[in-house]
Amino acid sequence: MVSVCFVCLGNICRSPTAEGVFRHIVRRAGLEHAFFIDSAGTAAYHAGEPPDVRASAAAKRRGIELSGRARRFEDVDFERFDYVLAMDLENLRSLQRRAPKRARCRIALLRSFDPSAEPNAAVPDPYYGGDEGFEHVLDLCLSACEGLLAHIRREHGL
Ligand code: 4NP
Repeated sequence: MVSVCFVCLGNICRSPTAEGVFRHIVRRAGLEHAFFIDSAGTAAYHAGEPPDVRASAAAKRRGIELSGRARRFEDVDFERFDYVLAMDLENLRSLQRRAPKRARCRIALLRSFDPSAEPNAAVPDPYYGGDEGFEHVLDLCLSACEGLLAHIRREHGL
């Protein structure tokens, strides 16, 4: 079982979108049995809330369901996951600061798995913008999640 956690700030926009997109791609590949997929936020302001309605609506237009309730990324999550994928550099650095020295997980930017992305490329925060920001998040997550799945399939012989 390969475990993957997507991490943004609030866990209501970007990381639930990445989680839903990755679930969708994994299911399409017939690999659901091989994965545990989750998401979390580095901040807890929205803990307990469902995904932002704008994120859910944008995903639904592409046939992707978002699920789950927001939660903070906890220290124990460094032990629970093989891949911890941050949406931007701020969240990546926040995770790296907290990670135990001997953490077994790989902590990286989600878009580092997108061969067409620049180094350090982010999935930008759509929270304070319009609907087009949520469409952009979906495009970026689709592209990066394809690369992520291809990487994991190679690395784990799936
Ligand atoms: P997310 O978006 O990190 O993609 O879930 C945000 C959600 C809430 C806030 C910021 C970003 N906020 O400031 O409340």
